[in-house]
Amino acid sequence: MTTRRAALKSIGLSALAIPAFGLDAKSQINPMPTSNDPTYWNKIRDQFMLSHDSVFFNPGTVGAMPRVVVERMTQHLNYIGEHVADWAYVDDNKEEFISGYNNLMSIRTKVANLIHASAAEIAMTDNVTNGMSYIANGLTLQPGDEMLTTNQEHSGGQSGFMLKAKRYGAVFKTVVIPKPIKNSQEAYDIIVKSFTPKTKVLMLSHMISGSGAILPVKELCAEAKKRGIFTLLDGAQTVGHIAIDVRDLDCDAYAGCFHKWMGAPAGTGFLYVKQDHMKDVWTTIASGRWDNHDDEGFRFTQRGTGNFPVLKGLDASLDFHNEIGPDKVYARIKFLGLRLREGLRKINKVKIYSPEEEAMCAGITVL
Ligand SMILES: Cc1ncc(COP(=O)(O)O)c(C=O)c1O
Repeated sequence: MTTRRAALKSIGLSALAIPAFGLDAKSQINPMPTSNDPTYWNKIRDQFMLSHDSVFFNPGTVGAMPRVVVERMTQHLNYIGEHVADWAYVDDNKEEFISGYNNLMSIRTKVANLIHASAAEIAMTDNVTNGMSYIANGLTLQPGDEMLTTNQEHSGGQSGFMLKAKRYGAVFKTVVIPKPIKNSQEAYDIIVKSFTPKTKVLMLSHMISGSGAILPVKELCAEAKKRGIFTLLDGAQTVGHIAIDVRDLDCDAYAGCFHKWMGAPAGTGFLYVKQDHMKDVWTTIASGRWDNHDDEGFRFTQRGTGNFPVLKGLDASLDFHNEIGPDKVYARIKFLGLRLREGLRKINKVKIYSPEEEAMCAGITVL
């Protein structure tokens, strides 16, 4: 296991982890940066290939990649180009040339650690739309069963449920929540009031992309659980942005991606399904393991030939995130988001659609 100092050294930050700024003895024990330490965060900025003339404001669509991510991915592409003839092919332990057939255990374990799940509960996907569609298509519902969501969901999160409604006669029901939302109690009350005895699925964005609102999903999942409602969270905007603990949230499933806030290459995502519920979900893309329940995450991960170099890039992005320290990243994003909102609120003509309750906000600010 790498020490923090060794890890920081690998991305050129060790010089900042030593007492160079006149820190007192106490702070030298843990001389890590605050959310507003420009020297440290400029050093992080230097790790990105993005031109220094540019300021990038749209990681909600696709994020900037650190140099190490691009390098790891392109190195592997070159390696495949040169060495494909050496591929052992049947060696299951080598996840080297293609994805889509092997269990990808090493990367699934890193993802599981990040969101507090077990690797068996994690499947690798290409994006959030894949993961959400896997659940929408894979759950067995009867005509008349209700699938509840809000009026502010992304098409990649909700369309699988609309398809399910049209094809199988289940009911796709949206509840209107205001924009901006005042506070989490308001969102909670509106959603809980919309549950009926026919509600079988609750699908919600953990963070709504059109406002940046972090919904009170833990409380909503608890309420849904009491009524036997399956809960699925769309985490497109959360991974690498705010802390995620699926055990604490106690949702039944969670779909996320890494190409937004984690700085991974496009085409990298995951689906978490709680172990108890894995058997309830049929796979949508079927390969040899379609009905093999020994390793449930592998059942969904095995989905035909895929691009391994992007997983090398993903692996590098997870290491980069962990080397800095997830909590430091989340605190920095929150700091920058808050600073922006505080400034904007002083300008009379600016209308902010992000929630008024600051605890519901992180890095996304919508005007
Ligand atoms: C809330 C939400 N859900 C789903 C998606 C779709 O994500 P992907 O393109 O990874 O499938 C997005 C994309 O912006 C999103 O913001």
